[in-house]
Amino acid sequence: MRKKITILGSTGSIGQSTLDVIARHPERFDIHALSANTSVDALFAQCMAFRPRHAVMLDEYGAEMLKRKVVEAGLETEVGCGISELEAIASAPEVDTVMAAIVGAAGMRPALAAAKAGKRILLANKETLVMTGRIFMDAVRENNAVLLPIDSEHNAIFQSLPAGYGRDMKGIRSLLLTASGGPFRKRSIEELEHVTPDDACRHPNWVMGRKISVDSATMMNKGLEVIEAHWLFNADADQIRVVVHPESIIHSMVEYIDGSIIAQLGNPDMRTPIAHALGFPERISSGVMPLDLCRTGALHFEEPDFSRFPCLGLAFQALKAGGAAPTVLNAANEIAVQSFLEEKIRFVDISGLIEGTLDELGSNPMNSLEDALKMDGMARAFAERQLS
Ligand SMILES: NC(=O)c1ccc[n+]([C@@H]2O[C@H](COP(=O)([O-])OP(=O)(O)OC[C@H]3O[C@@H](n4cnc5c(N)ncnc54)[C@H](OP(=O)(O)O)[C@@H]3O)[C@@H](O)[C@H]2O)c1
Repeated sequence: MRKKITILGSTGSIGQSTLDVIARHPERFDIHALSANTSVDALFAQCMAFRPRHAVMLDEYGAEMLKRKVVEAGLETEVGCGISELEAIASAPEVDTVMAAIVGAAGMRPALAAAKAGKRILLANKETLVMTGRIFMDAVRENNAVLLPIDSEHNAIFQSLPAGYGRDMKGIRSLLLTASGGPFRKRSIEELEHVTPDDACRHPNWVMGRKISVDSATMMNKGLEVIEAHWLFNADADQIRVVVHPESIIHSMVEYIDGSIIAQLGNPDMRTPIAHALGFPERISSGVMPLDLCRTGALHFEEPDFSRFPCLGLAFQALKAGGAAPTVLNAANEIAVQSFLEEKIRFVDISGLIEGTLDELGSNPMNSLEDALKMDGMARAFAERQLS
């Protein structure tokens, strides 16, 4: 039986890589649904290639544009729109696997719908765990969903743990999250004052969407991953260490109390963790070039610089504070990154906006999904107001 898959955010970087891997295994996978925000042409091209049962655009205008093309082409794909349709394609009874690859907080509700429906969830959207960690993990557990991490670091840790998840961190000293250091690893604070959005999106090792590229440049991406690791592996903040590794060959490591460190290595290509999760527990080919260690040469490791990259420290601070702090951090970060991409603020202003929002709202409690949505909205409104 072929596995039926929904890809949320199929037109993005992770979505396209997922389709690339799936296209290599037509005997294993069948696309149930695809989705996009505004990329009508890209989603239509994917519909032509993969003939999904459903295609969902975020808004009605996009859906109308897509529907016209689908009808003209004689496809049987049903076109829908809106969050409730995204939730529907994530939880449809016939779906086995959901790739959660929408960027930002917008991906949370459909990912949660997949968890509540007990799906196998391939989680790329780290913002879901940062925003609603406990709520999401409870939904996974209570509904027997299977959660497989797509972030290369968490996928590497998953592969380096004896049974996938170290539910109690027994025998483990620390999780070592590797970080490339991003495009500005060597830049001084003075130089960072003048960098542009295009500079920030020019990652040395990875090709990614613009939001996560800026997050990598500020190292907030690593901070969000620290919070993600906390929820996935039940690790405290002081059991998670960030190690800068500019070659991006080791994707992360687990350090055990007997002195062993187990690492996962590979070329920096997201198709490896995607194929791992799609095939799990089997291994399937991904199209990624094998890693030739003799050509790779020396691997380097450094401590992260918290003074040039204050976002990393803010994420640790939010994780330790708990309550609404990670939700507030995530929301303020999304506003700050979008404002930087629109050239309304400088790169070096991103952390200040997040810190100010955390100071204002980070100490609020958070016990439910309603609380999370409320705090997300309040943090966005507060951050926006600081900009005007
Ligand atoms: N890229 C990577 O290598 C990588 C690695 C690890 C983790 N991740 C995580 O994976 C997620 C996706 O990253 P990405 O780089 O693939 O992002 P991306 O290239 O920007 O793609 C995002 C996808 O989500 C859709 N989308 C955007 N805003 C939306 C909204 N408000 N509602 C519904 N759909 C929306 C986009 O549609 P349009 O095309 O129409 O805009 C696109 O399909 C992020 O959470 C990121 O942190 C990415």
